[in-house]
Amino acid sequence: MFEGHIYSQRRQRLMNQMGSGLLLLPGNVDAPRNYFSNTYAFRQDSHFLYFVGLDQPDLWVVMDVDAGEVVLFGDDWTMDDIIWTGPVPSLSERAYRSNIDSVRPLSALNTYVSSRIKRGQALHFLPPYRMENRMRLLELTGLSHHQLDACVSVPFIKAVVNLRSIKGPEEIEALQEASAIGYEMHMAVLKGAHPGVREQDLAGRIEGIAWSKGSGVSFASILSQKGEVLHGHDHSGVLEKGKLLLCDAGAESNLHYASDFTRTIPVGGRFNTVQRALYQLVLDANNRAFECIRPGVLYRDVHLEACLVLAEGLKSMGLMKGDMQAAVQSGAHALFMVHGLGHMMGLDVHDMEDLGEAYVGYDDEIQRSAQFGLRSLRLGRRLQTGFVLTIEPGLYFIPDLIRKWKAEQIHSDFICYGEVERFIGTGGIRLEDDVWVGETGAIRLGQNRLPIRPDEIEALYR
Ligand code: GLY
Ligand code: MN
Ligand code: MN
Repeated sequence: MFEGHIYSQRRQRLMNQMGSGLLLLPGNVDAPRNYFSNTYAFRQDSHFLYFVGLDQPDLWVVMDVDAGEVVLFGDDWTMDDIIWTGPVPSLSERAYRSNIDSVRPLSALNTYVSSRIKRGQALHFLPPYRMENRMRLLELTGLSHHQLDACVSVPFIKAVVNLRSIKGPEEIEALQEASAIGYEMHMAVLKGAHPGVREQDLAGRIEGIAWSKGSGVSFASILSQKGEVLHGHDHSGVLEKGKLLLCDAGAESNLHYASDFTRTIPVGGRFNTVQRALYQLVLDANNRAFECIRPGVLYRDVHLEACLVLAEGLKSMGLMKGDMQAAVQSGAHALFMVHGLGHMMGLDVHDMEDLGEAYVGYDDEIQRSAQFGLRSLRLGRRLQTGFVLTIEPGLYFIPDLIRKWKAEQIHSDFICYGEVERFIGTGGIRLEDDVWVGETGAIRLGQNRLPIRPDEIEALYR
């Protein structure tokens, strides 16, 4: 973890923003895979990591903003626990590491909270996404299941988003560490995409790298020759010469900061003419987005600018027609670029997505669009110095979607369906980099950019 004062400063800022009330912050518990003592790898809640830093299960923190008191609830390990897990620092020692003065047993949580409710203090909690924490919140608040979601604290959500959106220097360093692991993972794929290799083999290798250097993958790896399947977690294919292999994967650093990169490579290392032309469009869109990023710019506008680059390119290849500004405004390009340009990243790969993208990626100024394509943009709001986000344009040929749009003649003023159908089978291309927003523009995370130009990719196979 970082030094204790980092966490106490973050909590103080949070309490200053809230002004009053009782803030409930649950840590996560172990989650069983198939029976209670066979658990998934423990993953601490990201807000708990941000404000407390302690990376063990069965902890809660409560902040009494009015009294300026922070209490860590938990239990010391018993001898029975120690036999199985080895010694763990005492609760007081753990509290000390996080600069917390007050500790109480977990069994005292209910009484502590109910005494504050009796005094008339308002309870604030974030949207729970784990059932165990949800159940405990029901117990603590006396609310029913359906009331709980309606009672999450919007001021608490907004305060957390304000703080976590702007990354401090210690966080940028942790993100660089995650990027370095991601770099190594992707180099293994970029150099290993030979005909006959199993996708599962590559997927296993990169996940091994993620565990050997950090806390495993930051999300389920996507590694597939069916790049048009956006979340293609099936790795049962065998690499075939000339097919495009899409790999979207990232790691968590030991402190659980994420990386998230995508590269697309022709198996065997040679693009054919069509692949190269399409690939270049995606690369141009990525580079254009990078150039547009600076504080004060709406990320929705960066998304639309990247889409315009793609649409103009598709027009030059005979797949689209007409005025491309109008095509992008109407959403016609979304037949090919079905998702958003990027998202916030930090302790979560989609940072703070549990709080709701209406607060993380949008705000009072700009709300999420209902238009197909644009509605999948997770980040639309104005960028600020210290934001960390992804740039991930793509082009996809999704057979079912193409057939549906053609049958319904959707955006037929802009789409050359006869030509588009000939591209079915091309798959998908996505190129994703991670950046942070500096005072004058975007700065890529990672010591070096992963190879991305077609000549750089091909050179790996010479
Ligand atoms: N891996 C999902 C994403 O790139 O956002
Ligand atoms: Mn990704
Ligand atoms: Mn991403």
